[in-house]
Amino acid sequence: MQTLPGFRDFLPEDCAARNYIFARWREISHRYGFVEWDGPVLEPTDLYRKKSGAEIVDQLFNFTDKGEREVSLRPELTPTLARVIAAHERAFKKPLKWFSIGQFFRYEKQQRGRLREHYQLNCDIIGESDFAADIELIALCIDILRGFGLTEKDFVVRISDREFWTDFLRQQELPTDRWEEVLQTIDKSGREPREKTEEKLGALAGPVFSIFDKGGRSGKLDRLVDGLGARGLAGFVDVDVKIVRGLAYYTGTVFEVFDRAGKLRAIAGGGRYDNLISQLSDGAISMPALGFAMGDVVLGELLRERDATRAQLESAIKDQNKIDIYAVIAKEERRADALEQIQALRDRGYRVDYPLTSEKVGKQFQNAENASARIALLYGDEWPQVKVKNLATREESLIPGEALLDSVAKFFTVSAPV
Ligand code: HAM
Repeated sequence: MQTLPGFRDFLPEDCAARNYIFARWREISHRYGFVEWDGPVLEPTDLYRKKSGAEIVDQLFNFTDKGEREVSLRPELTPTLARVIAAHERAFKKPLKWFSIGQFFRYEKQQRGRLREHYQLNCDIIGESDFAADIELIALCIDILRGFGLTEKDFVVRISDREFWTDFLRQQELPTDRWEEVLQTIDKSGREPREKTEEKLGALAGPVFSIFDKGGRSGKLDRLVDGLGARGLAGFVDVDVKIVRGLAYYTGTVFEVFDRAGKLRAIAGGGRYDNLISQLSDGAISMPALGFAMGDVVLGELLRERDATRAQLESAIKDQNKIDIYAVIAKEERRADALEQIQALRDRGYRVDYPLTSEKVGKQFQNAENASARIALLYGDEWPQVKVKNLATREESLIPGEALLDSVAKFFTVSAPV
């Protein structure tokens, strides 16, 4: 039996890598004053059918449940967030700055950087129309990636403005019911042959390609870059009007993050969606909002590609499953005494391991090294004394059993366990 296509097993190292990514996501989001929330993984299919746009609807993992409800595993969080805000907004002071970490499911063609499940960090600011929020959000996205050791040589945030394109479509007198289709074509243009985009755009192809070639300008985007420049982050962003985003609900600023080398799929994407909450509440609640999501798959690939970021990742993986103390049971008669002390050490918060059944002493020391233990405690002929071995310096000392807890503490004064 194998995993389904596009699904992953998380072996211990993969779990540790995932924990590392989640920990950084959480830490930097908190640094910006964001608070954590979450929603259900299963939602009514209509939530996405109405709000996410054609591309995501084609990729839904949907089924009919035993109560005959049409349901979908969540492909993204934004429609859930809009529903939650519409229902609970009175309970919170605005603007809200919320983040969430969870698993998402899209029935996509499996390819490099795109699976059928992935984890996302979502960060959203709700209830703030001022441009300051757009700058703050993009700065957060940049700082999260910097938190992993990535630099402006490694990634770039391509920023754009949907209003630039909706103004253009209005000028071209294109009926509004065709706007989404045209925006989707522009969004896909970077991934499709030019002829295909040309065919789909028809009469609009000429003016659109001319904008692509000349690069569109927008005063709004210049202000955004200036705002990031004031924080020393201008080197991380490029204005690129080709970005419009595939999701239907965006209304203003949109952005996507790519590796500088341009080898990988998008690392993150987001933008303003000022009408979604109103649409979901049938006009009852109207609130501006903006946010982005960053996936774990492409980010993980990028971190493994760079020497510095890989070293940071590997050391975090190693640290997570490290133990503090390994109890070597050299004489089986001492097992009960050892277990009593192991219990006391674990109660104090130390990570302690030992062999569950009789093992050769050399093998036990090997186990201690493999688990990166700081010290080994040897229970053998010396009892009621215990031999303590510092595994880094190889120094050994004999300690009376009853003084062990205090003596052990000295080895952990730098980072005492909590
Ligand atoms: P999205 O661009 O569809 O945006 O997804 C955000 C990120 O999730 C992508 O840049 C990518 O890293 C990751 N991702 C998406 N699909 C997959 C996949 N099949 N496999 C691996 N990674 C994937 C959204 O989902 C918006 N809801 C973001 C947002 C939040 N907008 C406002 N607030």
